[in-house]
Amino acid sequence: MEIHAYEKLWLALALVLIVGFIGTITYGAAGAGIDMIDDKGGTVDPTTLDDHPKFGDPGIEKTGENQYDVYVVTRQFVFEPGTTQPIRVPEGSTVTFHVTAADVIHGFEVVGTNANTMAIPGQVAEFTVEFDEPGEYGLLCNEYCGSGHHVMEGKLVVMEQSEFDSWYEQQQQEEEN
Ligand code: CUA
Repeated sequence: MEIHAYEKLWLALALVLIVGFIGTITYGAAGAGIDMIDDKGGTVDPTTLDDHPKFGDPGIEKTGENQYDVYVVTRQFVFEPGTTQPIRVPEGSTVTFHVTAADVIHGFEVVGTNANTMAIPGQVAEFTVEFDEPGEYGLLCNEYCGSGHHVMEGKLVVMEQSEFDSWYEQQQQEEEN
């Protein structure tokens, strides 16, 4: 069988395209620091969130040197914390988020970072983010969750260490009282 030179060229170009497409998909899924949310966060009963040891009073908790856990409840149409009060973390910290939903599916995106997850009732999304510099980030819900979806937003503030420390200490004292 003889294959015409142009035919061979077309075949080669088609192969290059196919390999290229597979390459971009692989890079998009696994490269660029992308980490998919899996089920390691575990499950939670969405109907008794208020009694949950962590989600009953969600917020930040120090777990080690520059290590923090942040618990967030999403519900129509707020982030708790995030909307009424910003989420506060210190600069140079490694923060593990635990995000769940109390009613319907919401989104939790820290705008300008690659932190972005669905918040599903009954499931806890767990992921870790490093915050280097002080600054402010918006929080957005990017799953349609009802009539107030478009106003569901919040704020995350990366504070200077000393500022954060005094704020955190005050929080601890308020909890004790
Ligand atoms: Cu919550 Cu959209």
